[in-house]
Amino acid sequence: MYKIVRKEVLNPVVKLMDIEAPRVAKSAKPGQFVIIRIYDKGERIPLTIADYDPEKGTVTIVFQEVGKSTKLLGTLNEGDYILDFVGPLGNTMEVPKDAKKILGVGGGVGIPALYPKLKMLHQEGYKVEAILGGRSEEYVIFKKEMEAVCDKVHYATDDGTLGKKGFVTDILKEVLENDKEVDYVITVGPVIMMKNVCKMTKEYNIPTIVSMNPLMVDGTGMCGACRIEVGGETKFVCMDGPIFDGHLVNFDLAMTRLNMFKKQEKVSLELYEQHHGGDHHGR
Ligand code: NAD
Ligand code: FES
Repeated sequence: MYKIVRKEVLNPVVKLMDIEAPRVAKSAKPGQFVIIRIYDKGERIPLTIADYDPEKGTVTIVFQEVGKSTKLLGTLNEGDYILDFVGPLGNTMEVPKDAKKILGVGGGVGIPALYPKLKMLHQEGYKVEAILGGRSEEYVIFKKEMEAVCDKVHYATDDGTLGKKGFVTDILKEVLENDKEVDYVITVGPVIMMKNVCKMTKEYNIPTIVSMNPLMVDGTGMCGACRIEVGGETKFVCMDGPIFDGHLVNFDLAMTRLNMFKKQEKVSLELYEQHHGGDHHGR
């Protein structure tokens, strides 16, 4: 059992938790993820690690309450326990040693998944800049954390409440046009955003990595739920990812697969909500 030692509400749909998991905290690397299960018959939830502290033995997760399992997770409080917390899983990023300036592009709830990567690069002495976007100011999370590890942070919001009114790609175009030092891009966020970022960086011939976040079932390469296509080959995100060369990912297929179970997810959420939101055991 894994204890929740801190809980924070980041905005109306996103929550943060620090989980006591010393073994995971000790071996975690930027980009990796965990799979959690709240109770014995619960669904497995893959979450990209947002931060980790090997000394305190804690791992930070950030999640958006979209379905039954994440809503249930959101009802837990400091002092409560999670049944399974498996990880760290997945690959990590490799950035060329001679990269001059790395640009991180993050959208919405993908921003915390981008954070540990930029933090590590900053600690290793790289020049790091970020473009962060969300629907409105409150949906652009981890601003303070990002500003602490970036030389400059640009903001874009759909409604103009923070930074430029528009998408992250509107700022990306300006940056790529004017700052010829940027020679590596890391992007994490909605698939459509990562698709458009990669389309743009391909035009400028700038290597770009993405972190994919598909549906996962077993997380062991056996069920095939997380398969995507990269460079014409089938890859399993749980085993081969989550980080891939963004210029090789088939994003359209990834989006189709993400939407495949929307109907079942909606039914499951409606049933959960009808039963007064369930109890801590999801029953
Ligand atoms: P959102 O839909 O509010 O979008 C966030 C920002 O992304 C927007 O403000 C905009 O700047 C940019 N964006 C959106 N559509 C775009 C487009 N068509 N072109 C260019 N830029 C665009 O995001 P959200 O609801 O906070 O994020 C939810 C998504 O993030 C989910 O789909 C989830 O799967 C994904 N996510 C991914 C990871 C990962 O590791 N890849 C981690 C967490 C969440
Ligand atoms: Fe089953 Fe990846 S989640 S193969």
